[in-house]
Amino acid sequence: MSKNYKISIIKGDGIGPEIIDEAIKVLDIVSSCCGFTLEYEEYLMGGIAIDTVGKPLPQETIDGVLNSDACLFGAIGGAKWDTLPRELRPESGLLKFRETMGVYANLRPAVIYDELINASSLKPEIIEGVDIMVVRELIGGIYFGNPRGNNGQKAYNTMVYTKDEILRIGKKAFEIAISRDKRVCSVDKANVLEVSQLWRDTMTELSASYPEVELTHMYVDNAAMQLVRNPKQFDVIVTGNIFGDILSDTASMVVGSIGLLPSASTGEKTAIYEPIHGSAPDITGLGIANPIATIQSAVMMLRYSLGEEEAANMIETSIKKVLKEGYRTQDIAVFDAKHIVSTSEMGDIISSFIGK
Ligand code: IPM
Ligand code: MG
Repeated sequence: MSKNYKISIIKGDGIGPEIIDEAIKVLDIVSSCCGFTLEYEEYLMGGIAIDTVGKPLPQETIDGVLNSDACLFGAIGGAKWDTLPRELRPESGLLKFRETMGVYANLRPAVIYDELINASSLKPEIIEGVDIMVVRELIGGIYFGNPRGNNGQKAYNTMVYTKDEILRIGKKAFEIAISRDKRVCSVDKANVLEVSQLWRDTMTELSASYPEVELTHMYVDNAAMQLVRNPKQFDVIVTGNIFGDILSDTASMVVGSIGLLPSASTGEKTAIYEPIHGSAPDITGLGIANPIATIQSAVMMLRYSLGEEEAANMIETSIKKVLKEGYRTQDIAVFDAKHIVSTSEMGDIISSFIGK
């Protein structure tokens, strides 16, 4: 009997549905090639959930995802819901979702495709060979800290990490580094923040258990600069929630486009796979969104949650071939693009190159 996996799908808002449809297209082809089946169940989150059931994160979504082998997620948010009270906004649904699923480790790989070396705004010699894994703590830090508030005259948030939370994400980063170039750069703001001092001390303490991995520390402002100056110096970057949010967007432009970066959010329960970009309301419905970040998120899902390594490799090989043949969505189209294609054409071409 062939293997069957239950995949929960959250398309969300904006370009979410467009990019998820392309990932499903590719998954369907690769699963039939590799002899397993995927059973999809769709759930609501974000603005569409607010419009349909009155809240950004219905309980049904949580239950459905917990009951699945993995979750593929698009994007949420849009101007229409920006004026709602904060706890009712699409973003609050996503944060509550991450917290409820316990996905503390968000892995954001930024790897340059040789074929896209000209798509980056940086010079080829700076970016050739870039292969960075940003390990972002996802369910702590200033995003979740209390107290928080805004009375119109004074507003505040709290950045808080416990030692256990730092150890948990630190272990993940060191373990990932062991399978890579064995270098971890821990990013903080220890020259100013107490929470960063504990972060730095804990990482240093933890590094004693991983003698084969080299640990360095960097202040976040310097890290933002170094990512653009000399990105090749980085192997694994481990950092807290807000610094990871910011630095991963920078890392995405180093490799050419935010439309390329996938992510895996993992913890003790069902893992969530999502592109790092948002719902892009400005290009929604135009058919120009790049589906590669989402298709690569599906690749991470095949690899990490389903153990379908062959299928994951087949998609990656296909994406490389497609890029080599000069197919580009608008965000990565520069002078060497041969064919500028739409979102769905990109999905079709990647599907058609699978196994070729
Ligand atoms: C991301 C996004 C989210 C975040 C938003 C949509 C809440 O920017 O996944 O990087 O800040 O975590
Ligand atoms: Mg972000």
